[in-house]
Amino acid sequence: MTLTLSVVGCGYLGATHAACMSSLGFTVIGIDTDPNKVAMLQNGELPFYEPGLDTLLAQEMKTGRLSFTTDFSAVKDADIHFVCVGTPQSKDGLAADLTYVRSAVAEIAPYLKDGSLVVGKSTVPVGTAQSLREQLAKTAPQADLAWNPEFLREGFAVEDTLTPNRLVVGVANDRAEQILKEVYKPIIDLGTPWIRADLPTAELVKVAANSFLATKISFINAMAEVCEAAGGDVTVLAQAIGYDPRIGNKFLQAGIGFGGGCLPKDIRAFMARAEELGAKQALEFLREIDAINLRARQRVIDVVRSELSEDLTQYKIAVLGATFKPDSDDVRDSPALDIAVQLQAAGAAVVVHDPKGIEPARKRFPKLKYAEVVTDAVKDADLILHLTEWKEYRAIDPSALSSLVKRKIIIDGRNMLNRELWRKAGWKFHALGRTD
Ligand code: UGA
Repeated sequence: MTLTLSVVGCGYLGATHAACMSSLGFTVIGIDTDPNKVAMLQNGELPFYEPGLDTLLAQEMKTGRLSFTTDFSAVKDADIHFVCVGTPQSKDGLAADLTYVRSAVAEIAPYLKDGSLVVGKSTVPVGTAQSLREQLAKTAPQADLAWNPEFLREGFAVEDTLTPNRLVVGVANDRAEQILKEVYKPIIDLGTPWIRADLPTAELVKVAANSFLATKISFINAMAEVCEAAGGDVTVLAQAIGYDPRIGNKFLQAGIGFGGGCLPKDIRAFMARAEELGAKQALEFLREIDAINLRARQRVIDVVRSELSEDLTQYKIAVLGATFKPDSDDVRDSPALDIAVQLQAAGAAVVVHDPKGIEPARKRFPKLKYAEVVTDAVKDADLILHLTEWKEYRAIDPSALSSLVKRKIIIDGRNMLNRELWRKAGWKFHALGRTD
């Protein structure tokens, strides 16, 4: 018998999961409360930018296996229900807002058929799965609940879903594990490591992984600060320590730090949860990781001021990059946009360019000025900030911009541009963590 799956919540995670599960041959029903999003998806159009997912979605819609709706009762035909809704930072503190997860489970409960399995994929504070399982035991005792954290990166969402580096399932019994093994069989058959855990461990794996990644980034940004103070070069330092396989060379790119819908809110929610559990001290270091990360943004602004003036009111600054990382249109907690907004608040005339993120950025910050092409953004600029490492920006010929700007000063906030090339073209080139 082929299984039918439902995917509740069709954002970056859910839409990807739905299309990928359909591509494995399952019938998949995607549910979201946003009628515009559902209409687009049902039309085979992606409401956000994610490389490769647009093609996969269009292809899967044609098979007839994949459909989207706002109607929760549609889950009645499904055997397994993946909960992929958001868990943003709450408005009044560091903790995660679990409203969407709780209401998703409550909404589907009346329609769950005998023996069905609800599988949480959202990133939640440890203990949430157990409490949802207890809630289901009361409202839908015919169903069970498991947790299956997701490790996909935006920009690589399809690849990370279909060929992940591990599958982690938090289950309370063998039956739940067997069901998940059946779903993921094609991925397991590729040799993907399978880790069975209890519910709390599965929830913790996800936040531990994101905390480790955040720590790695803030570590190298702390080294960048020391390099600046001592006259060193953090890019050489990162390369040199990265050859030690115990350290590894990934996630050691110094710059303006991490943003997005995951790392910042996950480390904060983890701290808040640890405090509730009486383990506050164990995660105190994450407060420092967060502080180093936010300081990187400030350090860029300090360089801008030292290059131009304390008073920025007479200056035009071009910002290259609005998204929190390249190959995404996601501007949630974007360090690039935060810097742009802060400079504008300080009186500078700021113009932002981004290959994919202008519309989402404009929605969030309508008062910022945006340019569709780089040459418009940099026209008459006193300084250029390179803040998101789109490959388009690495392809820029610095001499071609020379005649457009007022002053040839560039700050590379991502340590990705070719410094020699810019200097040869007569530009004053700064990069975080490099004093030379
Ligand atoms: C992150 C994790 O990498 C995924 O494994 C996880 O599944 C996801 O969160 C999630 O929780 O859903 P993502 O937010 O897509 O994925 O982005 P990352 O690739 O982790 O980058 C996060 C931020 O760190 C970006 O702003 C990026 O520019 C920055 N970064 C990354 C650095 O500043 N330096 C680096 O060396 C690497």
